[in-house]
Amino acid sequence: MRLSNMVAPRALLPVGMFTLSASAFWRMPCMARTGVARIDPLVSWNEIAEHAHSIHGGNGFSISAKTDELLASTCTSCAVAEDKSAYWHPSLYFKDPATGKFTLVNQLGGMLAYYLLQPNNGEKNVTAFPKDFEMISGDTNRRNFSYPSPDVEKSLWNKAPYNTQEFLEQAALGFNCLDYSKAPEGSLYRHTLPDKAYLDANCKNGVRFEIMFPSCWDGKRVSSPNKKDHVAFPSLVMTGDCPKGYPVRLPSLFYETIWDTYAFAGKDGEFVIANGDTSGAGYHADFINGWDTKFLQDASNKCTSLSGRVEDCPLFTLQSDDRYSNCSITLPAALQNEPVYEGLPALPGNVPIIDGPGYAHGAAPGGQPGGANPPPIPVYSPPPPPVQASPPPPPAPAYSSGTKLPSGSFAPGGVFAAKLTPSGSFAPGGVFAAKLTPSGGIPPAETGSVPPPIIIPVPPTPTPPPPPPPPAPPSKPIYSTEYKTNGNVVQEILWVLEEITVTASVTNTVSVPAPTGPGYRKRHMLQHKRHGY
Ligand SMILES: *[C@@H]1O[C@H](CO)[C@@H](O)[C@H](O)[C@H]1NC(C)=O
Ligand SMILES: *[C@@H]1O[C@H](CO)[C@@H](O)[C@H](O)[C@H]1NC(C)=O
Ligand SMILES: *[C@@H]1O[C@H](CO)[C@@H](O)[C@H](O)[C@H]1NC(C)=O
Repeated sequence: MRLSNMVAPRALLPVGMFTLSASAFWRMPCMARTGVARIDPLVSWNEIAEHAHSIHGGNGFSISAKTDELLASTCTSCAVAEDKSAYWHPSLYFKDPATGKFTLVNQLGGMLAYYLLQPNNGEKNVTAFPKDFEMISGDTNRRNFSYPSPDVEKSLWNKAPYNTQEFLEQAALGFNCLDYSKAPEGSLYRHTLPDKAYLDANCKNGVRFEIMFPSCWDGKRVSSPNKKDHVAFPSLVMTGDCPKGYPVRLPSLFYETIWDTYAFAGKDGEFVIANGDTSGAGYHADFINGWDTKFLQDASNKCTSLSGRVEDCPLFTLQSDDRYSNCSITLPAALQNEPVYEGLPALPGNVPIIDGPGYAHGAAPGGQPGGANPPPIPVYSPPPPPVQASPPPPPAPAYSSGTKLPSGSFAPGGVFAAKLTPSGSFAPGGVFAAKLTPSGGIPPAETGSVPPPIIIPVPPTPTPPPPPPPPAPPSKPIYSTEYKTNGNVVQEILWVLEEITVTASVTNTVSVPAPTGPGYRKRHMLQHKRHGY
């Protein structure tokens, strides 16, 4: 497999993190791709798919993979050896109008799959994905976000039209404009892809595609004809309550992929997703469970570190970068010579560009069973939309650092925002915390990255015995994370829950620059090898 269109994997390293009442999660780094190919067993079962995807995870993935085939993988491109799941999403291309040629945009650092362990109210644990569990989030044919943007306040999400799966699915997409010199935008703030002029002007570090999967399950079906109906979004997309009929809470999956759109800054052209979508509204993603269910259940119960680091889960077997970077799927013969990287006269599969805003009517969102296995399921056909004149799409929402929150409220764009106060606690209704580690004192590595900082837990104060605790400040469970990408340490606040809890588990860590001894550097350098073969 060719990885030349992808940067070398980079280490994911949280530095100092102050967390109050955070919710458990882990962030699965899948820093290498196993392929870019027109494969999609959920939509095009046992046949070549309509459009190209960036594929990550177990190399047992194929046009007809299920959990057994994934578990039989001989490698996985994710950091944890036990995770052979298949994660895939359509790739991003740049179209040069002068030549008419398409080029795959570089994916910076592969992708991240967050497993947010958010149980239902009153419950302690989430339920692991069962064998053969699979799902799609998003709709490849959608071409507009049909609600006000930025989103209305979350307090309104319990009323029509926001209390619908239709809204929640559209709100589950995010296109985060990255400029590490500014405060970060909130996750899932904008639901469509800004145009190229906007990206060039504002998003120096590229754009992060984000997608949340439904986490409420009917508890019965591992799949459904359209790969969606057996699951549902909770009331606040990432958190909140499960709707009737979907009582079982799964790990909440959230994918992030950074595309280096800025590499094309100043060039005339446009970005188009491999499914022919320039709006972003048709972005979607797929998942097939490739965990042993018992193992995943154990991990979900026990790996409840608030750091999000897979290193902090004692059950996980971590792989070396060399190991997970050297993992590719076997392409079906029909795709072995299909170009997908550069100089392409059309999108792979000759997918037409359909700008919208009307519904695109490309590939059916449901599966198209071909073989005897799995048992055939009916093909879902969406009703044709009314024919109507298309108004121009609304302009992209302005860059928002999440600092303009009305105090005390959590509107998306700010929902994910919280202020990192000097005391290390998150003030409700606050602003985004952006923590960029200054490069001073940390010698740059050859690839432009910095050596990993070392996390030193703050030791408990020995004596005297602590005074009675002060009244707990209002606190909100937070998914907060820091990672390094493209040489920058980035703090990302994924989500601040609406509910007040009284849990007061505080993790204090401080971060210091890594030592620069030869042994240390050597270990680190391994992570920046290029893998071209
Ligand atoms: C949740 O996980 C813990 C830790 O493994 C376990 O002791 C407990 O029985 C689990 N609770 C439920 C309700 O499954
Ligand atoms: C990559 O994996 C193949 C077998 O899957 C092996 O032959 C090869 O030596 C590996 N390369 C590296 C650089 O580890
Ligand atoms: C937006 O997309 C929906 C389908 O998702 C479609 O029904 C609607 O007509 C579209 N809006 C416009 C203005 O085309």
